[in-house]
Order: sequence, then structure tokens, then C-alpha cells
Amino acid sequence: MKNASELLEFDAGHLWHPYAALRNTPARFLARSAQGTTIETADGLKLIDAVSSWWCVAHGHNCPEIVEAIRKQSEKMCHVMFGGFTHEPAIELGERLVKFLPKGLNKIFYADSGSISVECAAKMAVQYQFAKGHPEKCKLVALKGGYHGDTAGAMALSDPDGMHTLFRGIMPQHYFAERPNCRADEPWDDRDFASMEQVVAEHEGEIAAIICEPVFQGGNGMWLYNAGYLKRLRKLCDEKGILLIFDEIAAGFYRTGPRWGMEHAWGTPGAAGKDCANSGEDCAAVLPDIMTIGKALTGGHMTMAACVASEMVADVITNSKISAFMHGPTYMANPLACAAAIASLDLFENRDYASRVAAIEKRLRANLEPLRNLENAADVRVLGAIGCLELKAIPTSDDILRVIKETGVWLRPFCNYVYTMPPLITSESEVDRICEAIKMIGQCEPGPVSDDEFHE
Ligand SMILES: Cc1ncc(COP(=O)(O)O)c(C=O)c1O
Repeated sequence: MKNASELLEFDAGHLWHPYAALRNTPARFLARSAQGTTIETADGLKLIDAVSSWWCVAHGHNCPEIVEAIRKQSEKMCHVMFGGFTHEPAIELGERLVKFLPKGLNKIFYADSGSISVECAAKMAVQYQFAKGHPEKCKLVALKGGYHGDTAGAMALSDPDGMHTLFRGIMPQHYFAERPNCRADEPWDDRDFASMEQVVAEHEGEIAAIICEPVFQGGNGMWLYNAGYLKRLRKLCDEKGILLIFDEIAAGFYRTGPRWGMEHAWGTPGAAGKDCANSGEDCAAVLPDIMTIGKALTGGHMTMAACVASEMVADVITNSKISAFMHGPTYMANPLACAAAIASLDLFENRDYASRVAAIEKRLRANLEPLRNLENAADVRVLGAIGCLELKAIPTSDDILRVIKETGVWLRPFCNYVYTMPPLITSESEVDRICEAIKMIGQCEPGPVSDDEFHE
């Protein structure tokens, strides 16, 4: 058995980590176990996971119900190809998702990661337009400041001036509208839609779909924007015969308050959190034609995502000459992941996460709003179980590490954003501790700019 320092030495020499150099990266923690809100390291540190391990661990780590579901499924069948076979876990999950998702979004393509589900969404939109007799409509419009993943097709839809510029040569070229600037907490200002209208007017004949992250642009800026934008998008897409794709991978599963980020655009503002999917009401207000989900789908226990199309989109593709949808990951509908997702949906349905998130939001506001007064603060943003302190300049990684160790709170700031998206089971006192750690980072002296580990 290797000891901790031998393990870390091998890691530093041989293993790539996300958005990091192979060598000379800031010290890493050797995680030994994780339970509930807390990750324990080999040297005995107990860290509250204030970023839900990149926003997926919604019900907490090693959630007993999900672990048990995976264990049970593993006794029967761990994997079987989904080409030519189907199986109960995939079917049961499908039935559950059809009820859980917004009404009308019920044709499901299981993917193995969020990025892949975005690739599928873009391909579906293009195939839809092809089937409608418009092969020339093969571009998408995305938003500046957005993030949709790291595969080539998903990078091409993410912020064009963000961290992927090096790879422009292998990306398909799309069009971009300005980031919506009207904030979530301001009245909607229609001028905010001018850039999108202009881009669509200029390239109308080429556009298959518009894609956005509803109300919450996560991985490229922790930006919260006004739901009025989504209403205008739906109207524009309807007028122009363009499909609308909502990427709910980060915003979905109660992260912003209601079950879906798009719900902020439903009904009157007071009814924004209304659970239309369960009430059976017609929520025709603002629904996409295609939607992507991932991250919290399995509660962070297995990798799984899905691209979900409306009946209309699926029918057009299915009734066309090329009726097959040409995508098929090896691990599509992996039975273990399906079992994890079913158990996770049980928890989403049976626990009152809307209230829990409201309580988290209240604590985040109370703690983070005063941080506007810090000398280094540029902005504070809070919505649901998302809290972000934007700094004018980021402290050194040594200082961040020191705060993490001193407070026992795992934070992973990127660019100038010190943020939390804690598990939805996080207690109010844990939220207070997280906010104290954010404050301490906000009070550190800014350090030299570094490209290392700079993105989510
Ligand atoms: C909105 C959004 N879409 C897509 C992705 C990519 O998901 P994955 O990392 O599972 O490929 C992310 C990841 O952060 C995301 O936030």
C-alpha cells in the first residue's frame, strides 16, 4: 500500500487534472471518503463541499438511497449496449423523466456527459431543419458569456472569447449575441434583446437553433440574468421557425429555486416557482424545443446526462428520409447510471427542495450582500442555491488554500469569481461557514494573474 505522499507524487507526475498543468500545479487534496456535505482527506481534513463537486452532488455525497440502488443494479447487470438492447432501468428512468420534465418534453436521448448532450442537441436541431427541407440552416446562435462544455461542438457554443480560443481551428463556427445584461433582480428592459434580434436578422436563413443556459450562465462567469430574455427568445424562435434549446445542466434540479431555470419565465413573477410539471397545468409560456440535463440527474453518483426533445422535433426527424438520429455513445443508458438517476429522482420528488433552496438563498443573501463593501469586491450575486462574490482581482492560490484549510470549506474560485453552489441538503449553519470562507478570500490581498486551474 502506498502512503499518501507516494500517491500524491505519482499523481503529480502522471495524471492530468481539469484545467491544470500536469506539473507544478497548486497542491491537491487526496480525497479519502465523502459523506453528506463533507469530503474527508487522507490527512484528516474535513471539508464542506461548497461547490457540490462541480454542482452535481445535490443530495449530498454517498447518498444511501442512491448507493443502494447502484449496488442492487450491479448484482443484475452493470452494462449492456443500448444498440439492439433495451432494459428496465432505462425504461423506468424514461417513464419517470417524462413525468418530471416540463410538459411536452418527452423524447429522451441518454448521453454520458453534459457536453455530449449539448452535442446531441445541436445535431438534433440541424437534423430537424434538414428534415424540414432546410439543409442550409446549420448554424446556431449562442450567448456570449455562456458555457456548454468542453467537446468541440460544445466549445463552439461557449463564450467565443473565453478559455477555448486556442481550439478555434477545430470548432464549428456559430453566431453569438451579447450576454443578456438585464439582471435577475431588475425589471426587464427590452433593449437587452436588441443584439439577439440583430444577429438573427443578419443570419436568419442559416440558423437552426438558439441555445442558452436559462437565467444562470455558470461556467463562464456566474452571471444571473433576467427571465424576460427567455420569453423574448421563445417569441422570436416561433416567429422565425428557429428551434430553442435550453441547457439546464447547471440551472436544473432546483439549483436556482424552482425545478428548472426556465421556470423563472413562467406565469406571473409570483408564480415563478410553480411546479407545473406535477400540477398537470399547461405551462405553454416558455418551453424549449430541446433541453439538456445532466450533473444532478444522478445526484453526482454516476456520469449521466440527457438531451430531451419535444414531440414536434422528434416527429419531424422520425418522419423524414433520414429518420435515425446518428449518435450512439458506448455507455448510452448505462444501467448503473439509470438506477442512480431513478433513486435521485425519487429524492427530488419526495424532498421539499424548493423550500430548502429558499432557506439556503436567504442565508446566502444575508451573508454575502454585506460583502459588497469589501475593497476588492466588484459584485455580489445570489439566486437559489447559488452565491457569488465577484472580485476585482483574485488572491494567490496559496491564500485560497490557507482559507480552505483554516475554515474547512472547499471552494474553487475561477477567474475573479468566488462562488458557492452547495449540496441542496446543506444546513444553514454550514452555509454561514461557507460564506465566512468566501469573505476571507475576499479580504485577501490580490495576487499575480495566473492561467493555472483558471476555469471551472
Ligand atoms: C450549462 C452547462 N452545460 C454543459 C456542461 C458540460 O457538462 P459536462 O462537464 O458533464 O460535460 C456544463 C458543465 O459545467 C454546464 O454548466
